[in-house]
Amino acid sequence: MWDERFAQDDYVYGEEPNKFLVEQLCSQELSDLSGAVLCLAEGEGRNAVYMASHNHDVTCVDLSSVGLEKAKKLALKNQVNLTTIQADLATYEPLPSAYDAVVMIFAHTPSAVRERVLKNARLALKPGGYLILEGYTVDQIGRGTGGPGDPDMMFYREEVETVFARDHILVCEEKVRDIQEGSLHTGPGAVLQCVVRKGEFDGSIRR
Ligand SMILES: C[S@@+](CC[C@H](N)C(=O)[O-])C[C@H]1O[C@@H](n2cnc3c(N)ncnc32)[C@H](O)[C@@H]1O
Repeated sequence: MWDERFAQDDYVYGEEPNKFLVEQLCSQELSDLSGAVLCLAEGEGRNAVYMASHNHDVTCVDLSSVGLEKAKKLALKNQVNLTTIQADLATYEPLPSAYDAVVMIFAHTPSAVRERVLKNARLALKPGGYLILEGYTVDQIGRGTGGPGDPDMMFYREEVETVFARDHILVCEEKVRDIQEGSLHTGPGAVLQCVVRKGEFDGSIRR
């Protein structure tokens, strides 16, 4: 399905990065962020290219080889490098404690996969590394402005709070915001936005 969706010259979510991601990267908390970034379900690469343009060493993972080819093309156009990995997040195992940030922007998967992906995102982070996540919530269903229509595919705040219970949850907010991203995200969207800093001492109880 995703290969077909991406099989057009246009970038279906646009070439510009996600607004929440940009806001967070410009925030005081994250202004010093540098190093290795893992973008999960990164599709056509708009967020990865933005981060690579800001001197991050970016790896993007996606199921769609067509999406990743477009990501590489966008990287070339912007004169940056990306590492791309074509993989199914249902089985993909990231390098543990290897990344300064993990980015999940509209990385919608079924609930069983999502739990695994969140746990793997945590594992992949170095102590002190950041998760930056935005995805549609169940309140998005029926709006007709983007996202899957299946409650099982949506993001739930409690799931993030559970997986990252030992970490520093800096933002974990459900809201409706105007989203204009290419031809597939086209108006007010009900989203979950999260920023989490992994505990400095992995395994300890800290918040
Ligand atoms: C809504 S798009 C978001 C793309 C990108 N993050 C962005 O914001 O532009 C969802 C992406 O998830 C990918 N995806 C869906 N299921 C996946 C899975 N099981 N494993 C890896 N990628 C998956 C799709 O190929 C698609 O690129």
